[in-house]
Amino acid sequence: MSQDLAERCAELVAELGLANPGTDVRIRPLTGGVASDIAVVETEQRDVVVKFALAKLKVAEDWFAPVHRNRAEYAWLKFAHDTCPANAPKIFGRSEALQGFAMELLKGEHVYLWKDRLLSGAAPDGEAAKVGGLLGRLHAVSSRTDFDRSAFRNRDDFHALRLEPYLSFTAGRHPDLAMRINGLAEALHGSDQVLVHGDVSPKNILVRDGTPILLDAECATMGDASFDLAFCLNHLVLKALHMPTNRDALCAEAQSLWNAYAPHVCWEAAADLEARTVALLPALMLARVDGKSPVEYLDETGRRRVRTLSRPLIAEPAATISDFIDILKKQARHQ
Ligand SMILES: Nc1ncnc2c1ncn2[C@@H]1O[C@H](COP(=O)(O)OP(=O)(O)O)[C@@H](O)[C@H]1O
Ligand SMILES: [Mg+2]
Repeated sequence: MSQDLAERCAELVAELGLANPGTDVRIRPLTGGVASDIAVVETEQRDVVVKFALAKLKVAEDWFAPVHRNRAEYAWLKFAHDTCPANAPKIFGRSEALQGFAMELLKGEHVYLWKDRLLSGAAPDGEAAKVGGLLGRLHAVSSRTDFDRSAFRNRDDFHALRLEPYLSFTAGRHPDLAMRINGLAEALHGSDQVLVHGDVSPKNILVRDGTPILLDAECATMGDASFDLAFCLNHLVLKALHMPTNRDALCAEAQSLWNAYAPHVCWEAAADLEARTVALLPALMLARVDGKSPVEYLDETGRRRVRTLSRPLIAEPAATISDFIDILKKQARHQ
């Protein structure tokens, strides 16, 4: 760990009153992410997790993003904790000067990362439906006219963190689909119906005693609900393609995520949102192969499989999630 990170951690917990200035704190970096410095800090009062945004992300392609997204993340965590206290970590304060914040350390025998469980091949434990219900509730509350949007006018950050690296960059590698993919990006950029988390990935969801806890909200912005849905479904369908023995279970999880989400949709017709979600999903699949943040577990054969499935569905989207899943299963059987 860099000296610099240790110093920033000590400064942050002192500034937030979580440790007395000058006392020893022990620091253990956490891994998994590409966009931040994140560490467990043990103080004499309690153990906390601290997180600072990085200016340049840890990926192969050059990818820069403004560090003030740390403020948006903290505001999202506060909103989520106020709205669904069991589904977000407790927060302990933020420093504007250090662009860092502190939160509850989630640990224990009954805590696991959803991604680890999905990749282990173990049967799902209903996580997707719980995540769908949670997302639906957060989106619905944030769609109300009295929702305070002031911390979430972040469409330019969202562009830098999501639309450019996932969609525009991928459009550049698939010129025949560029109009469609760029059209999706433009529509997302122009939309502001609900508070979008922006990184609803199984690696950002810890499950504690059967309850999903959503982390890592630095892309948070007012936007289109279809982004969070398609982003999370993408992780499930990519794993379904990749793991034949779990395919049916993962496809069922994808469907149950939507089924649990749909009853919350009160800001538009659920069928319209579902249609936008299935139109975006194949573009995000292709982005995890040819965009700036490629999936680590696919080899060239796996990548080719993703292109073969996603490209025609970008050109001509499926009508519903159920249709999308049927097409995926049919194609997977022929490989
Ligand atoms: N409050 C927390 N308690 C325990 N583990 C955490 C906590 N926050 C994050 N983590 C772990 O650290 C990893 C990286 O954190 P995350 O917020 O996702 O950062 P990044 O933006 O770098 O992806 C997560 O995948 C999770 O495993
Ligand atoms: Mg993360």
